[in-house]
Amino acid sequence: MMHIDFKNIKSNIVGPNNGLSDSELNAYINGYQHIIRDNEIEQRNGKLKFLDLPKQNVSEIEKLAKKYAGKFENFVVLGIGGSALGARALQTALCPPFYNLLSAKSRGNRPRLFILDNVDPDETNALLKLLDLKKTLFNVISKSGKTPETTAGFLLALDILKKAFGKKYREHLIITTDKDKGILRKFANDENIISFEVPNGVEGRYSVLSAVGLVPAAFVGINISKLLKGARNMAEACRKTSPQGNQAYLTALVNWLMDTKKGKNMLVMMPYSYALKDIADWFRQLWAESLGKKVDLQGKNVFTGPTPINALGVTDQHSQIQLYNEGPNNKLVVFLEVEKFRSTVKIPKIFKDPDMDFIQGKSFNKLINAEKKGTEIALTESKRPNYTIKLPNVSEETVGGLIYFWELVTAYSGKLYNVNAFNQPGVEAGKIATRELLTRK
Ligand code: PA5
Repeated sequence: MMHIDFKNIKSNIVGPNNGLSDSELNAYINGYQHIIRDNEIEQRNGKLKFLDLPKQNVSEIEKLAKKYAGKFENFVVLGIGGSALGARALQTALCPPFYNLLSAKSRGNRPRLFILDNVDPDETNALLKLLDLKKTLFNVISKSGKTPETTAGFLLALDILKKAFGKKYREHLIITTDKDKGILRKFANDENIISFEVPNGVEGRYSVLSAVGLVPAAFVGINISKLLKGARNMAEACRKTSPQGNQAYLTALVNWLMDTKKGKNMLVMMPYSYALKDIADWFRQLWAESLGKKVDLQGKNVFTGPTPINALGVTDQHSQIQLYNEGPNNKLVVFLEVEKFRSTVKIPKIFKDPDMDFIQGKSFNKLINAEKKGTEIALTESKRPNYTIKLPNVSEETVGGLIYFWELVTAYSGKLYNVNAFNQPGVEAGKIATRELLTRK
């Protein structure tokens, strides 16, 4: 199970302007625990459907992925935002690094996974040129079925598939969309295309543990049952403990207090693990779209929301850390640390040079975590608040738990900020404007 170390957000470590005293924190922990209960009541009343996803039956997805193993060389996701970022995060976390470059045998005969979440003509054209259409399966993912980017990708894929295979185009298409509504649902039903549902009440950015993320994940060989087991374990751990022990509640509270009381209105998520790099990217959307709001629940203008930033340790130590350490003290840094990596890489001992001895003969494993500790110490000494989420390893269980954890933190945070964490009027406004521009003569 993951562990969170909050010591570097305490005022005795980073000072009263940047940190919270124990009594301050305890008062808030006691004062806001009703949000845990409110959340549970909403869940019981059929709201917050994403919290029920870990209990779903995924045998249909698993069966299909198994049946198709070895049949396709490429699996292409056409989706955007919540319909793309989760699948990418799962691929980076749970497939071997450079997965798409491996031989079919090393991929366990699973397809390569490409996620087209942009309408850049050069990228689109290059991908289509790269793919052998006969060996390619497209998964069009859109809850609404009317997002312009995904619609464009869908039309393009449909056209080339029909031209190449006539009526057999269906064999190269899977659709994931709303159960009843939207043009994609109608199309899938009318044309008898294999399809999966985005359950009612599950919003895009909370949908990674539905067919939206699970279908691509299962096709590339990720054990989705274990992923959901990890999420269930996390749900249970947060449910069973007292508010003082509910890590999701504490995290939501700490982030919110840091933003609203200590002026840390930017939240940096910095994993020290390549595998977790796109979890930080997925989180960025979850946080930004859920909490960045003009109005509160009473309709009053509040213009709220901490800005999420994703960084990668150690790479971004040589890019952003200078700013975090010496620039404006307006950030809260969340480190993700991994105790045990899948591989061990030794650093060879080659030179007889005292300047090299601090690193020669050590391992990359030791180095990456020492660099994380070094960055943590440097930030803390500069009175920059930070905390560390430590995972024992990166596995289906821990990643499932981490995803569920951040979704729950985000739902709690919506309550603390008193905003609707499940709509995105600011995104919809852009979609409508694009549609109007394209309709104009
Ligand atoms: O979180 C959200 O709701 C959005 O980011 C959507 O996922 C995104 O806009 C894509 O929408 P759709 O799945 O309807 O195509």
